[in-house]
Amino acid sequence: MALLSDVEAAAYWNERHQQESDLRSGGHMAFDEATNRMFYIRRLALLMDLIGLQSSPVAPLFLLDAGCGKGWFSRELARFGHQVDGIDASEVALDHARQEGGGPRFHRSSLSGWRSPWLYDAVICVDVLFHILDDAEWERSVRNLASLVRLGGRLLVADWHEEHDQAFGNYQVLRGRRSYLPLLQDCGLRFEGWHPYDFRASVIGLYAFTRR
Ligand SMILES: C[S@@+](CC[C@H](N)C(=O)[O-])C[C@H]1O[C@@H](n2cnc3c(N)ncnc32)[C@H](O)[C@@H]1O
Repeated sequence: MALLSDVEAAAYWNERHQQESDLRSGGHMAFDEATNRMFYIRRLALLMDLIGLQSSPVAPLFLLDAGCGKGWFSRELARFGHQVDGIDASEVALDHARQEGGGPRFHRSSLSGWRSPWLYDAVICVDVLFHILDDAEWERSVRNLASLVRLGGRLLVADWHEEHDQAFGNYQVLRGRRSYLPLLQDCGLRFEGWHPYDFRASVIGLYAFTRR
């Protein structure tokens, strides 16, 4: 099956964010709203565990939610006291995120194009990279996210844990260990493990890296 072009993929996300309920639009289309809520809560707990629980209001962590969609994770992370930047390519998703408010700053940007005046304690990227279909753009995106992590900070990116890459349908290319590990090692990050979502039949989990 042919993969969507860049223009088709952008239209797909705007339409999905327009038509679907809050959690289905960025979550799993096969789940109803209640199941998606469980899915989001489970992944938030995993993220918080991997980011760490330092949520002092006088020393919040600086976090980037890369590909934030409608901003659910950004808002929840902000509720722990963290300073969150959320970026996404979809204006429709960002309009919704800005209406919800809740603390995070939302910006329209591709993952590869985001430039920040500060480095982040943690950069998270939940269920976005496997929707970047072009390999060269995927690599630019991963390299850019890695460059935004401070010394000692963490990069958490969602994908599957097979060795190889594989396309599913026309809008997903799952990439595996052979793609992530050497690339991020080249960017100066140390691989700390892969943590499965462990939800229903999902094969996805979070790759955790730390900047040395
Ligand atoms: C499955 S949704 C996940 C959204 C959010 N992380 C969540 O879990 O609720 C994928 C998101 O990635 C965004 N996206 C896809 N390619 C992107 C790119 N190259 N740069 C920035 N955002 C992108 C889409 O607009 C969409 O909002």
